[in-house]
Amino acid sequence: MRFRQAPGWPAVLTDGPVTLRPYRRSDAMAWSEVRCANREWLAPWESSLGGDWDQLNSPATFRWVYRDQRRSARTGEGMPFAVCLYADGEERLVGHINVGNIVRRAFCSGYVGYWVDRRVAGRGVIPTALALVVDHAFGPGGLHRVEVNIRPENRPSRRVVEKLGFREEAYHPRYMHIDGAWRDHIGYAMTSEEIAAEGGLLARWHRLRARTP
Ligand SMILES: CC(C)(COP(=O)(O)OP(=O)(O)OC[C@H]1O[C@@H](n2cnc3c(N)ncnc32)[C@H](O)[C@@H]1OP(=O)(O)O)[C@@H](O)C(=O)NCCC(=O)NCCS
Repeated sequence: MRFRQAPGWPAVLTDGPVTLRPYRRSDAMAWSEVRCANREWLAPWESSLGGDWDQLNSPATFRWVYRDQRRSARTGEGMPFAVCLYADGEERLVGHINVGNIVRRAFCSGYVGYWVDRRVAGRGVIPTALALVVDHAFGPGGLHRVEVNIRPENRPSRRVVEKLGFREEAYHPRYMHIDGAWRDHIGYAMTSEEIAAEGGLLARWHRLRARTP
């Protein structure tokens, strides 16, 4: 399917201090700093690319990452967002969230992947980002279903989707090549009908947060 402009792209999504926006060429230094500072934190959960971490995450490599993301967004295969936090009028790039492998026609489905800087982990940044992205995907993005696949050992990530009420629906043995080996994953999913009556996933997330002390 070819679009003059892919559904739901480009977009800027905001909730409180969390903003999701398309990457800019000028993000190279900030992206590289956060990726290099988080090697031990991120490597166990990322695709096996081989090669030196610092090189794979250098400002020069960002040029390729940026081009690839622009291409996937333009063709409607992905919605790659930089996750930013705002404080005292300053923007800080702290993570990434992408709806990838988007298939339209009778599927209208995509897979979400994400990570956040360890220095801001535990503050609900990614659940907020995921809720924003899902509402956007089900609205202007024209999708009906999103999946998140997570290694069983990744408790923090499983907490994110479980808190938001994703359905655990599958166990995929040796599903993806992550951190040097084929790793099992648990498949979580959500379809638009499941949150329509609640006014969307962000509304659900706000209600859940209001209830938690
Ligand atoms: C998974 C991840 C994205 C969660 O993002 P987040 O914005 O920290 O999400 P939350 O604030 O909701 O925290 C999720 C859970 O992390 C754990 N957690 C909290 N603070 C933490 C900290 N400082 N360090 C590690 N884990 C922490 C808690 O179990 C929390 O669940 P809780 O709400 O029941 O307490 C983040 O941990 C991360 O980037 N991990 C490395 C990359 C990764 O795993 N990506 C996902 C691959 S599927």
